[in-house]
Amino acid sequence: MRRAFALASLLMPLPAAAQTVQTGGALAVRWCTACHVVEAGQRLASDSAPSFRAIAARTDTTAATLDRYLSSGHTLMPDFSLSTQERDALVSYILSLRQKP
Ligand code: HEC
Repeated sequence: MRRAFALASLLMPLPAAAQTVQTGGALAVRWCTACHVVEAGQRLASDSAPSFRAIAARTDTTAATLDRYLSSGHTLMPDFSLSTQERDALVSYILSLRQKP
């Protein structure tokens, strides 16, 4: 009984919020790096797409504005048809890049 509990906590080393950020980071690397600078240290990206860090740094960026942006189709960005969970994860990831004042 005790053992099972210890095993379960080993399998869940991160709190849910941190895991969402991690999932979002993985999705961003897979889908967004073609155009956006997603992580620090990454180079190749298109000129017209802002880096995720720059997006996070803008004061008018909120979870709601990002969610709305990612829910609708755009002219310049492909429509990824993201699921709600994928959107949440990407939004959490982008906001996690915001520098603490
Ligand atoms: C084909 C290139 C391309 C890909 C791939 C791409 N983007 Fe973009 N994205 C752009 C461009 C260009 C802009 C700025 C112009 C615009 O709004 O369409 C942009 C703008 C944005 C903005 C809005 C920034 C603002 O001004 O508020 C967000 C948020 C964003 N992208 C997130 C993502 C995410 C998340 C992914 C991966 C799932 C992604 N993008 C993949 C090209 C791309």
